[in-house]
Amino acid sequence: MYGAPLSGQAKKMMLLGSGELGKEVVIEAQRLGVETIAVDRYASAPAMQVAHRSYVIPMLDGEELRRIIEQERPDLIVPEIEAIATQTLVELEREGYRVVPTANAARLTMDREGIRRLASETLGLPTAKFAFADSLEELKTAVAEIGTPCVIKPIMSSSGKGQSVCRTPDDVETSWNYAMEGGRAKKTRVIVEEFIRFDSEITLLTVRSVSGTTYCAPIGHIQKDGDYIESWQPHEMSEEQIREAERIAGAITDALGGTGIYGVELFLAPDKVYFSEVSPRPHDTGMVTMATQDLSEFALHVRAILGFPIPTIRLLTPGASYTLKADRESESFRIGGLEEALSVPNSQVRVFGKPETKIGRRMAVALSSSDDVGQARRQAKEAASCLRIEYGDQ
Ligand SMILES: Nc1ncnc2c1ncn2[C@@H]1O[C@H](COP(=O)(O)OP(=O)(O)OP(=O)(O)O)[C@@H](O)[C@H]1O
Ligand SMILES: [Mg+2]
Repeated sequence: MYGAPLSGQAKKMMLLGSGELGKEVVIEAQRLGVETIAVDRYASAPAMQVAHRSYVIPMLDGEELRRIIEQERPDLIVPEIEAIATQTLVELEREGYRVVPTANAARLTMDREGIRRLASETLGLPTAKFAFADSLEELKTAVAEIGTPCVIKPIMSSSGKGQSVCRTPDDVETSWNYAMEGGRAKKTRVIVEEFIRFDSEITLLTVRSVSGTTYCAPIGHIQKDGDYIESWQPHEMSEEQIREAERIAGAITDALGGTGIYGVELFLAPDKVYFSEVSPRPHDTGMVTMATQDLSEFALHVRAILGFPIPTIRLLTPGASYTLKADRESESFRIGGLEEALSVPNSQVRVFGKPETKIGRRMAVALSSSDDVGQARRQAKEAASCLRIEYGDQ
């Protein structure tokens, strides 16, 4: 049910996507003696800076993907992003390659439709009402059916790109145009979701390993324009909410199978817990676990996918993370204010080392711990506010 353990130790891991999450995965893999290869569509990506070798290819190009995989013959293929030629991964898995957690999980979570239909229609999990549309006309019908306000998103996008809240039927055209600009892989399909008035939203990190399924303490987070700004752990929840959240996370991760960490995103409304989406890999809001747990989400992912046991996961302290984002596009910049940020008690900084800034691009994160989660949040925010991007071409 959790996949056969790798015989002996995996020698070679190929990471598809080389952002800040992949960088930590590479570091954790190397700690266990694994050879690492980082792949992404641009050079000098964060994980490439720590991996043994790297390749730059268009990740949605199945032929290119197959070419480097056949050349390197990795023991494990580890997707870090959604935008990959997942059909090629399905074929490679059939030919005997091992894809994390499974090629099918990567395929189903690549777009919002596959995972939403699995969660709602196959598993009967509670989700916002939803509909799909392929044209402006269809979108008008879908919005009429779901009602306003509603949320409109390209079926293939992440970090809130192309996503907007449609408040009245008059907004439909603006939302459609916005989705067409923000979507990925030239797909015109969008999802319309009922707007959920949640009290809070969480990520429930769920690990599938040879030791079974284990849940981390819930991570609360705040998103702005569909992208995460801050997260904290643990998030206060009632026993009943935790039971329901774990039931949902257990059902969706059982259905996706394999081993590794999953980030299950849930909305907490007064009377209900809603399933939102799931990442079959470490989650951005889970970076907080580098400050809170004995095994971070990256260490857990690596252990699980190598077939090693995870007997316990300990939350050592409450903690929080707060992001630093760029506000312009530049290739000439440095991250300043580290001295001030590191003067904040119980705080750390991770500078991702991305070669270019873009508007809204996450460049670093501050991590803080404290006995009190509120205090940890204040410290992380303060540390992040000390950081600044100093542009050289200004
Ligand atoms: N139906 C909804 N009702 C209310 N808020 C929503 C809804 N859908 C999304 N949101 C808000 O927008 C955020 C981003 O949505 P979602 O997770 O679907 O997009 P995403 O692009 O996949 O983001 P990411 O890649 O950062 O996880 C959510 O975390 C939530 O704050
Ligand atoms: Mg999300």
